Amino acid sequence: ELTACCTHTLKGKNVIVTGGGTQEAIDPVRFIGNHSSGRMGFALAKAAVLAGANVTLVAGVSTLPTPLGVIRRIDVTSTYEMKNAVDQYYEDCDLVIKAAAVADYRVSHPAQNKIKKSEETLSLEMEKNPDILYGLGQRKTHQTLVGFAAETVNVLEYGMAKLKKKNLDLLVANDVSAEGAGFQSNTNIATLIFPDGSMEKLNKMEKYELAAIIIDRAAAILTQKNT
Ligand code: CTP
Ligand code: CA
Repeated sequence: ELTACCTHTLKGKNVIVTGGGTQEAIDPVRFIGNHSSGRMGFALAKAAVLAGANVTLVAGVSTLPTPLGVIRRIDVTSTYEMKNAVDQYYEDCDLVIKAAAVADYRVSHPAQNKIKKSEETLSLEMEKNPDILYGLGQRKTHQTLVGFAAETVNVLEYGMAKLKKKNLDLLVANDVSAEGAGFQSNTNIATLIFPDGSMEKLNKMEKYELAAIIIDRAAAILTQKNT
C-alpha cells in the first residue's frame, strides 16, 4: 500500500528531512521546547526511502526509531544545531523537507549552573533564532524546498505568504486547531500550496499516508525541473 499513490520516483536523489522539535536551554537541566513528536518527519523519511532517495534525517528531539533505509541520522537539540546539520548537506542535496517544529527564539544567556529559585517572578530574555528554511531559500540553486506551516487561523493565507517569503516549491499547510490534526496526533489535515497559487486540499489522513502524497508531489516537481 506504500507505493500505491507514488507514481514518481526519487531514485538516486539526495534528500534531507528534518523532523521533531528543537529545544533551547535555560540552564543545564531546563529547556524551552514544543510538543512535536517527530511522527510527520519520520514518516516523510520513510516515504522518501521507499521512493528510492538517499535520505539524511536531521532529527530534533524525538523518541522514534530511525526508519529502515535512512542512510544518515543526525540528532540535534537546538535550532542552531539543526541549522548547522542542514547547511552541511544542503549543497549536494536535491530536496529538503522541513517538517521539524523549530524554536523561533532561544534564551539569550543560558545559565552555566542550575538556576536557584529566589524572587517571586523570573524573566528570561530570548532572542530570535535564524530561520533555517528562509536561509535555504535564499541560497537555492537546483534544490527543491518543501516547508510546513502549522496554523490555527487564516491557514491558507498565512501558508501562501510563507511559501513566497521562503522561496519554497511546496508548502504543507496544517490546520492544527482542527480535531485530528497537529503535534500529538496520528493524523493531519493538510492543504498543499504551490507557487503558481494552486492548492490541493487533502482529507484527514494518517501521517504516513500524507507523507507518501507529499513525497509524490515533491518528486513530480523534481522531475519537471529536469525536463
Ligand atoms: N522554520 C525554519 N527555521 C525557523 C523557523 C521555522 O526552518 N527558525 C521552518 C519550519 O521547519 C517550517 C517552516 O519554516 O517548515 C514554517 O515554520 P512556521 O513555524 O510555521 O513559520 P515561521 O516562519 O516560524 O512563522 P510563525 O511561527 O511566526 O508563524
Ligand atoms: Ca515558527
